[in-house]
Amino acid sequence: MCGIVGYTGHRTPTHIVLAGLGRLEYRGYDSAGIAMLNDSLKVVKTAGKVADLVKKTKKINTKGIHTALGHTRWATHGVPNDTNAHPHFSNSGRFAIVHNGIIENYEPLKQMLIQRGYSFQSETDTEVLINLIEDVYLNENVSLPKAVQLALCRVVGAYAIGVLDKEAPGQMIAAKLGSPLAIGIGEDEFFIASDASPFIEYTNRTIYLEDYELAVVHPKKGLQIKKVHDFSSVDPYIEELKLSLESIEKGGYDHFMLKEIFEQPQAIIDTFRGRMLVDDNLIKLSGLEEHLDTFLTADRIICIACGTSWHAALVAEYIFEELLRIPVEVEYASEFRYRNPVINSGDVVIAISQSGETADTLAAIKLAKSLGAFVFGVCNVVGSSIARETDTGAYTHAGPEIGVASTKAFTTQITILSLIATRLAQAKQTITKEDFHKILVALEQIPQQIKAVLSKSEAIKSIAQAYHKATNCLYLGRGFNFPVALEGALKLKEISYIHAEGYPAAEMKHGPIALIDEQMPVVIIATRKGHYEKVVSNIQEIKSRKGKIIAVVTVGDEAVAALADHVIEIPETSEMLTPLLATIPLQLLSYYIAVLRGCNVDQPRNLAKSVTVE
Ligand code: G6P
Repeated sequence: MCGIVGYTGHRTPTHIVLAGLGRLEYRGYDSAGIAMLNDSLKVVKTAGKVADLVKKTKKINTKGIHTALGHTRWATHGVPNDTNAHPHFSNSGRFAIVHNGIIENYEPLKQMLIQRGYSFQSETDTEVLINLIEDVYLNENVSLPKAVQLALCRVVGAYAIGVLDKEAPGQMIAAKLGSPLAIGIGEDEFFIASDASPFIEYTNRTIYLEDYELAVVHPKKGLQIKKVHDFSSVDPYIEELKLSLESIEKGGYDHFMLKEIFEQPQAIIDTFRGRMLVDDNLIKLSGLEEHLDTFLTADRIICIACGTSWHAALVAEYIFEELLRIPVEVEYASEFRYRNPVINSGDVVIAISQSGETADTLAAIKLAKSLGAFVFGVCNVVGSSIARETDTGAYTHAGPEIGVASTKAFTTQITILSLIATRLAQAKQTITKEDFHKILVALEQIPQQIKAVLSKSEAIKSIAQAYHKATNCLYLGRGFNFPVALEGALKLKEISYIHAEGYPAAEMKHGPIALIDEQMPVVIIATRKGHYEKVVSNIQEIKSRKGKIIAVVTVGDEAVAALADHVIEIPETSEMLTPLLATIPLQLLSYYIAVLRGCNVDQPRNLAKSVTVE
């Protein structure tokens, strides 16, 4: 987490960095700061949001600034206050640093530096790193880039850093291990940033630094990339980005989350594009075609992910087992990586991640690879660390997702995983030609059907009105819709701070039923295909305990409508694809409840979109 933006060149650096930090706030937003360089090195920082930093920076004379480096923070070491906010200075005041990541061995390094006479203002690991750099610089008689390299060799943990030197106008040093860092290359100007969004309107020429790479940029002297291990030079690989400015702005919606919910029909069309040809009865995913045999001979598939992506993985488990008859396991990446998992060389791992940067997922991939597994990545962010670390993969092409609560990433992940499973089932001949075609036809209808669900947003808003003061909420679903219940509960708790739990509907009787009384709203997915009668019985059980029932049903349903307090109809589709429709009303319900409670929907407290710490 944490966002970094730096600029050096002929434009107004303060403006570029502050605007860029605003775009990176999804990465953390508890404090922010900026270092500005002309003849002196000024730092402004504050607890709070980038907007607070903008206000504070307005009071500063920024004339003559040619280089600036900013940071928006998600606290790891030390509470979010002005002192702990980045940038941090070295003791001499000559060097400033911003950092995204965690220096795990900061404590022994700090003690060593204290013994050597250094003192510390903040509780951060970052201030330790900049003083370590200064100590190396002063004692080893080397250039600053070399000092940064030598200091990084002594560090355990993860970092993306930017470093400024008061005595080196125009120079920025950047380095990366674990956390992402992109360099934007313009005419006599350079940008560094945690992703490309801060510089997309200025240049589309980008380098994504690899782990253990260090870059030195200067508008006149150009760019150099070195390896952190031995300071040897690396030839830069420059990519041409396709990201547009429009795609990262709100476009008339009150919140990014609402925009992204409404973007789902188009996002799913973009996921299909060029990959699903219904008339030709064809699914073609290049990353998959090259490795069909690996999948077809796999003994099992293990899906690893975190958060909402883990819920998509659960849906995939149901779909893959149904269509392919291969055992599928779904693992939290954070558990998988630390529990000595049994992996055999015939195992295929599918790693699922919107950002492609989640630290636990990335570490789990590396572990799986080291144990001989073949790893397929499902990512949204093109060029992300996970996309690069996996053996092959498929992008979801959902477009930038900025709201912290994931919405379109989830439905596009399910879409691409459905395409993968269906293509594999065709190759493995575990489905008939007719069934293959039926799935394609059903998938093709999904965007239109999602639009139909979105058209009910006003009705969903009025349900939100009735329950926005609730303190608890239960979400129930069965089969393919059990993960949808988990995802619905997650959406509600993360943005409205209402305690919510998702359960398989039949498990209710083993505990959660004790919670049900007239105060308890129960959201239940009761679509016609999918254990319908059993779910209706569950609804009866809730009803007889006076729970308030909000049911997601198939259009035209009468039995559930007769029992429920509220029904939200979704169109009919194949059972395996119902999660794509059933999840939409739950996203809208959470959204409207959070808005009614006055919560900051796009930036919920304590959360961040991209979790690059474990
Ligand atoms: C964070 C985000 C979630 C996301 C999870 C996994 O917790 O707030 O929305 O689902 O990370 O992220 P990933 O980028 O790997 O899908």
